[in-house]
Amino acid sequence: MSLLNLSKVRKTYQTEAEKLLILKNINLIIDENTTTVITGESGCGKSTLLNIIGGLDRADSGIIEVGEQQIEKLNEAQLSEYRKRKIGFVFQFHYLLKDFTCVENVMMPNFMAGNSRKDAIEKAEELLERVKLTDRITHYPSQLSGGERQRAALARALINEPDIILADEPTGNLDEENSRVVENLLFDMVHDFGKTLILVTHDGELAGRGNNEYYLHKGELHLK
Ligand SMILES: Nc1ncnc2c1ncn2[C@@H]1O[C@H](COP(=O)(O)OP(=O)(O)O)[C@@H](O)[C@H]1O
Ligand SMILES: [Mg+2]
Repeated sequence: MSLLNLSKVRKTYQTEAEKLLILKNINLIIDENTTTVITGESGCGKSTLLNIIGGLDRADSGIIEVGEQQIEKLNEAQLSEYRKRKIGFVFQFHYLLKDFTCVENVMMPNFMAGNSRKDAIEKAEELLERVKLTDRITHYPSQLSGGERQRAALARALINEPDIILADEPTGNLDEENSRVVENLLFDMVHDFGKTLILVTHDGELAGRGNNEYYLHKGELHLK
């Protein structure tokens, strides 16, 4: 069943000097429980596309259906709810809060969504075990390695059981060895938890991992 359906999505950025056409005509159908990898050169609009799907940015025009919802029609409050319930983000930079421990960072979105502190911590601990950080749960982000921070970010992305995981260059700041560890964990967890993954990257190594692979070029997606 299709979970996501983008039709004629267009996005421009108005700068002082000119109007930049970033996404010209994006058409994309993504089925439930699949992994999609989108590659493309730096600056081609990968993050822009992912941010539009995740409700962090808005398209100029086009239709973006996610499940029953047409997200371009949602107001800011509805969009925020959509992000909270449906989407788990993993970025190139971890965005862990520096004054909170590893387990606090992971439990936070679940606690904010209304779960009790105790249950949220329990859930966070389970996910941290899954990403092999059980012996790092009381560490602060500054006390974690780059790979460990990204693994914590994976756990955080999954804690509210989102339907869709959006990963923007999730291994972009890691060395080769840690990249593969994070990549394997991400794909394994998406599979085991029955999630749908959309990953954008310029890392050729990652490109072959998806069920579906696209190349973004000059504002359009091409099947690889
Ligand atoms: N807020 C913005 N205002 C103006 N231009 C932007 C903005 N965000 C991104 N861009 C431009 O849009 C293009 C695509 O950016 P991005 O989606 O981040 O590319 P990628 O993730 O593929 O490297 C770039 O040329 C970038 O400079
Ligand atoms: Mg980017």
